[in-house]
Amino acid sequence: MVLGVSGGIAAYKALDLCRRLGDLGAIVSPVLTPDALRFVGALSFSALAAQPALTSMWDGPVSPHTTLGQGADLVIVAPATARTIAAYTHGLADDVLINTLLATRAPVVVCPAMHTEMWEHPSTQDNLEVLRGRGVTVVDPGVGYLASGDQGAGRLADTAAIVVAAESILGSVRDMTGLRVLVTAGGTREAIDPVRFIGNRSSGKQGFAFVDECAGRGAVVTVVTTVNRPVPAGVTVVTVESAAQMEATVADHCGAAHIIVMAAAVADFRPVHAAAAKIKKDPSTTDAPTITLERTPDILAGLGAAKPVGQILIGFAAETGDVAHYAQDKLARKGADMIVANDVSLPGRGFDTETNEVIIFTSSGGVHHVELSDKRAVARAVINLALAAIGTDIERTVARRHGG
Ligand code: CTP
Repeated sequence: MVLGVSGGIAAYKALDLCRRLGDLGAIVSPVLTPDALRFVGALSFSALAAQPALTSMWDGPVSPHTTLGQGADLVIVAPATARTIAAYTHGLADDVLINTLLATRAPVVVCPAMHTEMWEHPSTQDNLEVLRGRGVTVVDPGVGYLASGDQGAGRLADTAAIVVAAESILGSVRDMTGLRVLVTAGGTREAIDPVRFIGNRSSGKQGFAFVDECAGRGAVVTVVTTVNRPVPAGVTVVTVESAAQMEATVADHCGAAHIIVMAAAVADFRPVHAAAAKIKKDPSTTDAPTITLERTPDILAGLGAAKPVGQILIGFAAETGDVAHYAQDKLARKGADMIVANDVSLPGRGFDTETNEVIIFTSSGGVHHVELSDKRAVARAVINLALAAIGTDIERTVARRHGG
């Protein structure tokens, strides 16, 4: 794990963070910017981390920044100054820390700390929005004493909150303990006869990424699915085939759920009648049979219409253009709290891919872009928003841990 420290007064708090991360068993490699060295000494970090602190691109072996970045399982930047955030956002690799950040594919946690005016400045906020969109976790600063006797927003988040964020990403935090999550996954199959069906290209991968993410964070998860996939221990799997079966099963489980993730690609139309026996070709004619279709129940809209207070309902919009318009329409029409929208006509986004790029529209007017990332990262971004909405965000987890 890399702990990046940039030049702000909160750099002294990074020493405590370094110790706490070490206590958890992390092998911490400190990376200090030249400005951080104006506030704290490299020797202190080297002593606490039991790893030499890296302070320059030009000391020691060639390419230490790429070696560190490539080998890291997580990079935490605490404190992250406005300059470091801007340089990271724009790829300005002018110090050892930004080089390390650009050389890593590991998850990154950025913990801003700066004066209130700088924190609230649109350029800082815009940069952080871009980073969030790239899957970076931002642990927002708190309110309190800043440098030079100032007070306000911009104080480095508590060490405990940063540790929780790190643990969450490394999979050891269970901040969804006590929450029940219902996920639907895969495409429904609408029978034409016993051997044929109307289906779609959904693989269920995005839905199961939600199952893994929520179960990994301690939630009690039920997945109603049309596809078979391995799930973490403790997850309840109910296999269904058609939209009607999915609707009935969801109805059985929805009341108890704190969060419902309607990731399934539910067929919009089904044959009015499914033949009881295989439909045979009629040898006396070259005509093909006509299949009359009817609408299926809209499960998401049904859930939205009867949503208990406090339940978070998440729908999806797989579109082939005009994504924002259709997503906003579904948000309103189906009574969802969030619509996760993507353009499935673009490569690497949507059906049967390992990756996705989405825009999350919330009923409170929020629009959050998640850049092309693996489906687990998309699930994490959506769940983080859901948790913030129901008030079990990281700060509250910390409070719970400390008896608050
Ligand atoms: N959905 C549902 N029941 C249906 C159809 C869709 O619950 N019969 C849910 C999906 O699980 C998804 C959301 O509604 O979360 C949007 O699905 P989509 O197929 O994109 O929307 P439609 O309602 O089918 O709208 P349109 O045909 O206009 O695209």
